[in-house]
Amino acid sequence: MRILILGGTTEASALAARLAGRSDISPLLSMAGRTSDPRPMPIPTRIGGFGGVTGLADFLRQERIEAVIDATHPFAAVMSRNAAEACAQARVPLLALRRPAWMPQAGDHWIDVPSMEAAVQALGEAARRVFLTVGRLELAPFTAAPQHTYLVRTIESIGDALPVPDVIAIQDRAPFHEDSERMLMERERVDVVVTKNSGGAATYPKIAAARSLGLPVVVVARPEKPPGIEEVASADAALDWLQRRHGRSP
Ligand SMILES: NC(=O)c1ccc[n+]([C@@H]2O[C@H](COP(=O)([O-])OP(=O)(O)OC[C@H]3O[C@@H](n4cnc5c(N)ncnc54)[C@H](OP(=O)(O)O)[C@@H]3O)[C@@H](O)[C@H]2O)c1
Repeated sequence: MRILILGGTTEASALAARLAGRSDISPLLSMAGRTSDPRPMPIPTRIGGFGGVTGLADFLRQERIEAVIDATHPFAAVMSRNAAEACAQARVPLLALRRPAWMPQAGDHWIDVPSMEAAVQALGEAARRVFLTVGRLELAPFTAAPQHTYLVRTIESIGDALPVPDVIAIQDRAPFHEDSERMLMERERVDVVVTKNSGGAATYPKIAAARSLGLPVVVVARPEKPPGIEEVASADAALDWLQRRHGRSP
């Protein structure tokens, strides 16, 4: 069974690890190519866009893909929409592997906002020390609030993506740990954290650390994903779905 995994997430990598070496399923992992030094994957991988809905539908037909798993990040809205349309066109079954959103717990001080622009507004006028964990490609709106000091953590170097006077840039990639997150926030005297509601365990420790320090967290809500797509929350559940489609018992 030839399957395409739309990846770039921990969940996609976990599914790839489970499929590696199987003779009954022939997986292909697709990455957008945003990270210059991606972690090596144990299954065949392709990198780069498909060329919109038409490009993806053509790819599915040419490669004789029999099922697609959309395991992209909850904020990768365009890819998920394209996958839904292309799979419908090419009549290929589609499953979404989507980690559940984080939910606030007792002791959390969340400020829920609908967009990155609203996150900038939520920081207010007074200068604050902001821990920005939103990703390199989403820094631009924060140039509208140059009064803050930004501690920015990204996988790739931010280059000139945030041209404001006070930026402390660190490069690191998940998984993170609550103790080290707390130490970082204390050392840099962080007043407020900004995050997308990405979900998942790998980047959750910043939320737990902020809670323990009593810090507010500006949480950007997820974009809409296409409706009507069957969805699971774990790589194991995606594997079950594949095995059911393949007509084999787990
Ligand atoms: N957005 C985030 O916060 C975030 C965080 C962590 C990881 N990621 C990962 O980074 C990638 C890009 O995210 P994004 O938010 O820029 O996506 P996006 O806005 O939804 O997608 C923009 C375009 O990038 C290409 N693309 C996206 N994911 C792809 C994939 N897995 N394989 C091949 N092409 C892909 C597609 O190009 P074509 O139209 O040419 O096909 C798509 O139209 C995704 O794979 C996502 O899983 C995103």
